[in-house]
Amino acid sequence: MSAGEEFVVSEPFGDGTRCVHGGLVPAEPGGPVPPQPVMASQFHLSDDPSADFYGRAGNPTWRALESAIGALDGGSCVLYPSGMAAVSALMRVLLKPGDTVVLPSDGYYLGRSYVREHMMNGLVVREVATTAAWTAETVAGAALVLLETPSNPGLDVCDITAIARLAHAAGALVAVDNTTASPLGQRPLALGADITLASDTKAVAGHSDVLLGHITATDPDLVARLRTERTVSGAVPGPFEVWLAHRGLGTLDLRLARQAENAAALYDVLREHPAVRSVRWPGSPLDPAHEVAARQMRRFGGVISFELASAEAAARFLAASRLVSSATSFGGLHSNADRRARWGDAVPEGLLRLSCGCEDTRDLVADVLTALEAVI
Ligand SMILES: Cc1ncc(COP(=O)(O)O)c(C=O)c1O
Repeated sequence: MSAGEEFVVSEPFGDGTRCVHGGLVPAEPGGPVPPQPVMASQFHLSDDPSADFYGRAGNPTWRALESAIGALDGGSCVLYPSGMAAVSALMRVLLKPGDTVVLPSDGYYLGRSYVREHMMNGLVVREVATTAAWTAETVAGAALVLLETPSNPGLDVCDITAIARLAHAAGALVAVDNTTASPLGQRPLALGADITLASDTKAVAGHSDVLLGHITATDPDLVARLRTERTVSGAVPGPFEVWLAHRGLGTLDLRLARQAENAAALYDVLREHPAVRSVRWPGSPLDPAHEVAARQMRRFGGVISFELASAEAAARFLAASRLVSSATSFGGLHSNADRRARWGDAVPEGLLRLSCGCEDTRDLVADVLTALEAVI
């Protein structure tokens, strides 16, 4: 299989069909139906310049998943070995010394940490809150504006189209970290962003057994620069992990549906509970982010957050739950919760980000109610 032979399954097919069939190769009698991993590091050499020759430069397993995710995102996808590898590659490729970069002050903390502490190339970093009043001044002089919406862990939302308009007028590119929404939940490129990227460790792979990330863009020159930088830097994903993520992607539509169902049910239960100070889920019409989220998101996922009185209360909740593990990450099959203040996020000590898994709604609600009894 060489580049371009994979199925591109786009509209009018629905989300489920696109996830199941994305990146499959055309049927061949005697050939496997599902994608198969090609683990080779070396390939028989050919005079065809598009043929595979060495695993660091490309292989059929990457192409299959890049084709599937690219079709969902609406651009050309470049895979990376983790979400942070995608974030850091984007910064290295797009920014030069002296450039100004706008970063979310309330997004995933390692993005800021990478730029501030590890790039060491004289960048001007401007941190802006997701819910800030974005104006021309906010983005003035920037080369790149990175948004994270919904933000992790606050689940705040900003208007991608409006900010892209401001940023483009200022000559900046706009990238959206789409990890929380997933490619089915939101299409930043269709909303006016230049780049969408994500940690596919989360919803796309979905089974908490893979680290992976990607960047999708529409500008062929940028995509070529990203691919070249990936080959040269050597920060490449392993084919086995990519294959596992492709396998996971097949059920993304189903998993998101159940996770969102669970989030909606838990939101109602948590909102009413005396031990809970506040709860956030952009999918609820009662959430302050809902109006913008409903305009730009296609569907809401299973990540919610809620605040208990203290770190001790959060610990009691986690110890008492049978179905919600204490773990950091989200978007997987198994429900988990993470007390984000332990990682230094500027959130209340008792705030838990809860990633709803694919358990039965009735079971999860019962389990969370039981665990909350331990908190009162
Ligand atoms: C919003 C967001 N972006 C990027 C990352 C980094 O992804 P990874 O852990 O796959 O490197 C994370 C990880 O939690 C995240 O939540």
